[in-house]
Amino acid sequence: MPKGDRMGMERGSMGLLAAVLLAALLPGIAARGAQALWPDEPSHTCSFQSLSGKDSEFCRGNLEVIYPELGDVGCTYIPSCHQSRWRISREWGSPRVRYPRANKSKKYVLMLVDPDAPSRANPRSRFWRHWLLTDVPGAELRMGELRGRVLTEYARPTPPPRSGYHRYQLRLYEQPEGGRIRLGPEERISAGSWSLESFVERFQLGSPVASTQFLTKHHED
Ligand SMILES: *[C@@H]1O[C@H](CO)[C@@H](O)[C@H](O)[C@H]1NC(C)=O
Repeated sequence: MPKGDRMGMERGSMGLLAAVLLAALLPGIAARGAQALWPDEPSHTCSFQSLSGKDSEFCRGNLEVIYPELGDVGCTYIPSCHQSRWRISREWGSPRVRYPRANKSKKYVLMLVDPDAPSRANPRSRFWRHWLLTDVPGAELRMGELRGRVLTEYARPTPPPRSGYHRYQLRLYEQPEGGRIRLGPEERISAGSWSLESFVERFQLGSPVASTQFLTKHHED
């Protein structure tokens, strides 16, 4: 092979390498949870926006909330692309929740609540209880596969039309030993207007050991 051609080929493969690296890096920065693949859409059309200010301060203790097709959505806005907002409201089941620092010999209480029901501007039904698990072994949290005891079945986030962004907050508490945690009769009737504070106080859960949230709004807004 003439020398000139080989040089040309090397330059070509260097350029190719650079392009591959760039392609690998750019969506990696834009989209957390890059393991998700959408063969029908180029990945550069979908980018995650992180929460900021007060909304980001809620995220403490590296609690991960993982919808398999999106990755860890903790402390982000659910992106509007790939119909993610529609799918989180209509299609996807409960997320994996992972807390790598969980103590294997402890049990935990996990809740998912919407403090912005029916809207952040007028949250007269705060808190809306979307998921409530007790007796979650530390080992399950370390794996991100939660079973525990279900007090409230997972209900998908379904922010109403034109109600703006809702926060979906995950709060994880260490569960005190002994004493069964249960919802009262009135709490069982309605998921809305839940007095989270009195529940926490009644069972002496204290402060969350970790918390995170994601924001989303109605898929057509
Ligand atoms: C885990 O919990 C047990 C029982 O409460 C305690 O004795 C132990 O020190 C904890 N381990 C860590 C690493 O915190």
